[in-house]
Amino acid sequence: MKLIIIVVLILEVWAVKWSYGQQPAPRVFREEASKQAQIYNSAGQQVPEGYVIGRSLFSYAFILPPGFRGTLGRLGAQDRWLDIGAGEGHAVLDYRMSKYDVLLPGAGESRGKAQAIAMSIEDRRTARWHDAAATMSEKQLRYLSGRRLREYSSEELGRQFQLITDVLGGFSYTRFVSGFMEKTLGLLAVNGSFYTVLQDVQSESGENRPFYPGSPFLTELVRRDGSELKVCAWLKRISCVEVTCELKADSSPPIEAYGIRKTCNGVVVPELVPIHFEAGTPPERRFRMKGALREASEPADARN
Ligand SMILES: C[S@@+](CC[C@H](N)C(=O)[O-])C[C@H]1O[C@@H](n2cnc3c(N)ncnc32)[C@H](O)[C@@H]1O
Repeated sequence: MKLIIIVVLILEVWAVKWSYGQQPAPRVFREEASKQAQIYNSAGQQVPEGYVIGRSLFSYAFILPPGFRGTLGRLGAQDRWLDIGAGEGHAVLDYRMSKYDVLLPGAGESRGKAQAIAMSIEDRRTARWHDAAATMSEKQLRYLSGRRLREYSSEELGRQFQLITDVLGGFSYTRFVSGFMEKTLGLLAVNGSFYTVLQDVQSESGENRPFYPGSPFLTELVRRDGSELKVCAWLKRISCVEVTCELKADSSPPIEAYGIRKTCNGVVVPELVPIHFEAGTPPERRFRMKGALREASEPADARN
């Protein structure tokens, strides 16, 4: 009898392990997600030092790829800009208030300004935001909060956007990075651009090492066989996009800046499954490719 019980217990443990593959136990995920939620909900003195929520448009112009300034400058009154993970929304506000037009080639000319929407999980609006919003309509300026990007339907968010940005927002913080990318590209108009960054990742050329000795990169991807996959190489496997990756090695930690232009509607994002998530600013994440899509035909240099 004892033997049967032991065998049943071993089988149960094996079955649980098998069903989740190498994924962390759901309990660990839940605990880390709840720690992450505390960071989002932090206020006043409780906001962790590394959780920067007030970058200006000036900062965006230097963090994002150079194409960002031209794209934003060219937008007109018929266009739309979505900033995902906007924190206090200063970049969007600066744009609508023409604070840094001098940085945006062509901005403020007769074509007017695009509708600018700031999205944040938690409501970080300041008095500055409320004062400015009181002088504008929702067709000019909006702040969306209370939900994550994935919780909005495309209908709710309206017409597709000509420009989407994410500066250490959802793309750096999400536990569902391929779903996040799919959703974002679905919201982008053909010929529109998504500009974003990741901190402390293996760059396209592979020259950098993790910023903190003894720690992994903040975002790591692996193939099904466990071999390393660079974020840039993964992005370049998405169909219907053109991708540029640029390492900014002098930032501390270094960042890789991504420019992603949508070229057609058949976007397919290779799926990534989360296998590690540790709350932080940003969190430490590891994802594994679910399929082996296009791996065989891939050029050798894209595999590293
Ligand atoms: C560190 S702050 C960055 C704020 C701003 N981009 C800046 O540079 O000042 C991270 C922001 O990302 C938002 N965020 C994280 N995950 C998100 C998601 N899945 N959808 C929408 N916003 C998200 C947070 O709510 C917060 O507003």
